Amino acid sequence: MTLVRFIGTDGTIREVTAQSGARLLEVAQADGQPLEGTCEGQMACSTCHVIVAAEDFAKLPPASEDEEDMLDLAAGATRTSRLACQILLGEQLEQLTVRIPGEVRNMQGR
Ligand code: FES
Repeated sequence: MTLVRFIGTDGTIREVTAQSGARLLEVAQADGQPLEGTCEGQMACSTCHVIVAAEDFAKLPPASEDEEDMLDLAAGATRTSRLACQILLGEQLEQLTVRIPGEVRNMQGR
């Protein structure tokens, strides 16, 4: 189980526990977080962009080159940005804090 803490666009903090093996994107969507995840994990949209807390970022396996390329296109990306569809939660991760970026660039260009 991983304790996932979401910091919403308005600063609201929500905590959920996630099963080992769950994808962060699914956990976020199940909690009602506004992550579109348009491409359903194909690394073709960046609408699942989240900003990982600095203290948790190093605990995650590094992003692949494809993920880095998508993050380059994500609005408001930072040094600790990741694609939520690429983060698998597991036993090695007791807790994870991520911020939902305020600026989302989705497929409709809204
Ligand atoms: S859901 Fe499209 S890149 Fe993650």
